[in-house]
Amino acid sequence: QPVFLSDYTPFGYLVEDVHLTFRLDPQATRVISRIRFRPNPDTTDRGFFLHGEQLRLVTARIDGATITPRITERGLTCDVPDAPFTFQAEVEIAPAANTALEGLYLSNGMYCTQCEAEGFRKITFYPDRPDVMSVFTVRIEGSEPVKLSNGNPTAQGDGWAEWHDPWPKPAYLFALVAGDLVAHADRFTTASGRDVALNIWVRPDDQGKCAFGMEALKRAMLWDEKAYGREYDLDIFNIVAVDDFNMGAMENKGLNIFNSSCVLASPDTSTDANYERIEAIIAHEYFHNWTGNRITCRDWFQLCLKEGLTVFRDAQFTSDIRSAPVKRISDVIALRARQFREDNGPLAHPVRPSSFVEINNFYTATVYEKGAELVGMLKTLVGDDAYAAALDTYFDRHDGQAVTIEDWLKVFEDVTGRDLSQFKRWYTDAGTPRLRVSDAWQDGTYTLTFRQMTPPTPGQPDKAPRVIPIAVGLLNPNGDEVLPTTLLEMTEAEQSFAFPGLATKPVPSILRGFSAPVILERATDNSERAFLLAHDTDPFNKWEAGRALGRDMLMRMALTGGDADAAYLDALRAVLRDDSLDPAFRALALRPPAQDDIAQALHDAGHTPDPQAIYQAADRLGQQMAGHMADLLQGLYQAMAVPGPYSPDAEAAGKRDLQGLVLSLLTRRDGGQTARAQFAAADNMTQQLTALSCLMARQLGQQESQAFHDQWRHDRLVMDKWFALTVAHARPEDAAAGAAELAAHPDFNIRNPNRFRAVFGALAGHAAGFHHASGQGYATLADWLIRLDPINPQTTARMCAAFETWRRYDSARQAHARAALQRILATDTLSRDTTEMVSRILDA
Ligand code: ARG
Ligand code: ZN
Repeated sequence: QPVFLSDYTPFGYLVEDVHLTFRLDPQATRVISRIRFRPNPDTTDRGFFLHGEQLRLVTARIDGATITPRITERGLTCDVPDAPFTFQAEVEIAPAANTALEGLYLSNGMYCTQCEAEGFRKITFYPDRPDVMSVFTVRIEGSEPVKLSNGNPTAQGDGWAEWHDPWPKPAYLFALVAGDLVAHADRFTTASGRDVALNIWVRPDDQGKCAFGMEALKRAMLWDEKAYGREYDLDIFNIVAVDDFNMGAMENKGLNIFNSSCVLASPDTSTDANYERIEAIIAHEYFHNWTGNRITCRDWFQLCLKEGLTVFRDAQFTSDIRSAPVKRISDVIALRARQFREDNGPLAHPVRPSSFVEINNFYTATVYEKGAELVGMLKTLVGDDAYAAALDTYFDRHDGQAVTIEDWLKVFEDVTGRDLSQFKRWYTDAGTPRLRVSDAWQDGTYTLTFRQMTPPTPGQPDKAPRVIPIAVGLLNPNGDEVLPTTLLEMTEAEQSFAFPGLATKPVPSILRGFSAPVILERATDNSERAFLLAHDTDPFNKWEAGRALGRDMLMRMALTGGDADAAYLDALRAVLRDDSLDPAFRALALRPPAQDDIAQALHDAGHTPDPQAIYQAADRLGQQMAGHMADLLQGLYQAMAVPGPYSPDAEAAGKRDLQGLVLSLLTRRDGGQTARAQFAAADNMTQQLTALSCLMARQLGQQESQAFHDQWRHDRLVMDKWFALTVAHARPEDAAAGAAELAAHPDFNIRNPNRFRAVFGALAGHAAGFHHASGQGYATLADWLIRLDPINPQTTARMCAAFETWRRYDSARQAHARAALQRILATDTLSRDTTEMVSRILDA
């Protein structure tokens, strides 16, 4: 049943062009296709197979003559001429019955599609693979006032519209939308003078939530011209907001479809974090027009080719228009929380996997976020100029093609003359390397010795050494930098680097900017970390020093039940009151590591983590921070107030972030007085939600929670926040029952992925609640995944990852988790998606 990278063969036919007619109907949409094929000169394989699933074939013809093809659950075969021919089919599908949200479906009465990775085969018979690229012409017939597809509009009349996309594309980039929509419209003129119509299409109620997304889109278009020389290539660019969507958004050619949570924004209903995320996702999908659409993937094993590169590009964009250090630190926090966790558990897989059962299960933190880290490392290794030259070559050489990681690396090899065969291991080998560091000081020479080791991962017991770019700086004990950031290129399993001619033994700042996605292991004392937190010139490592202190402190507190030590609290206090530091940076430095990170760290150090003890340690630390900084809190709270009307810019958002952190400490001391006042006075969602969250975290917010619920009852996206917050702030022993109770709320809707994730994603993210000793967290999530699977396998499978850490815990918890997983696996007619995920989690 698995598909293997090594089995790749090209398709026997090329598609010259495709004509599709849609006669829309909720129960019985007709899809009429006319596809011109010709034999592929690059292969002698003439087997003719078209993918097709859950389609009712009405008629099929070859060169006009009716045929009777052989049809299986997976597709269609028939005899074809050994020459160019035209295949025609008419099929019937039922969008209203499509709850999996893959293929053509209805969301709130609006037709929309999601075809990546393999959803086009649920629309019509077609070679649904990314290396088959063709030019699409689409006619949509239906009474819906707005009817959209890819490319440029060519004609329309009463009840119909036609679209033509001149750029050859794979079927996964096909899209269709039809409904009662309104546009927020604008225009953009490209560098070479092309006038492009821009639209964000939404339901009429949401028209006031499009302005920010539109500005973000224009910023992204301009940035891609300046940073990568990439211009838009059609006369129109459409974005559509959809309420029911399995992922964040999709880069369909000229017609991006977004989860409404990733595009709609207004000060009243969206937080600063929402704004930043929306800006990044709009940019990400737009950037795919070149990295993904014009140059696409040969097969789905190459997914990181487009996703890693596009995530890297959207991170560059955010760094350029906001704060680069804050973006880097936030990205590393997320990388460690999601990707390191994945890489160190049963779901570990290479950035380029070599086999899969269901490709939708591989849209992972490893493919996306680690994939982006690999692009970043390449850039670090070859330098900025060579990176720019390589990307130019990549676009020139591969425009219009479906390519591989080998093609990508070859470009860098050709441009730089470097041999990247060792670097390629980053793509093929799973697991997070451990980088152990020791140092020596003798006769004015300081020596750093590194040893790398990557633990075994499923199917990969042994790992060869990788090339690791290690950015290092050295500081004098008085705080001066004696060696500015220098790149060490480690290629051996063990390697030393000497720094001669120093007057005093320096303090090393290693892995600056997080120059490689590795776990740095260095036996060091807290005074060195406190020194780096105070003096490091590299903002990432400055933050990292504080994080390491906090992590070790929380580990010790969880193990011993003890208190935070005063030196640590003093160091945090110094950061908090240092007005020369960006407020956003201070907020990041003061926020302790997540409880799940502490559990992983304890596990790595050979302990069995106790989620309840970690929860209590985190609470104690908060209490002690609040006490140690009590005299600063009111002053800072006032100082971080942002005057004037709400603006989501980075500076204002950073102040609100620090103010929110201060408020959480203050709420531990003033019985909720300040938070209540903020909740009542807030004129934006960031401050309203922060205040509510601070209160709920202390079990003080019942009234405010009710008020919030009543105020926002009719706004789906805000209600998602309310559902999530309610679960997130439940006591550990109440979290599972609380989630189950919310699932009985009249506004819970199992068919809406955002709502399901709000409740059960929050349960999975509540470390002490999900891993509660009673086993209720596991059992409750299993109950609901079993219910969701027949409705929406993709979202079910994705959420199974909540269980990936189960082997970290004690045997009683493991028994509960195993029972829950086995119960899922034993479910009748469990989807292929969920079966694959649960089997991998159980087996490894
Ligand atoms: N390509 C989209 C993006 O990263 C994600 C779509 C994933 N869809 C899926 N069914 N796995 O922007
Ligand atoms: Zn993407």
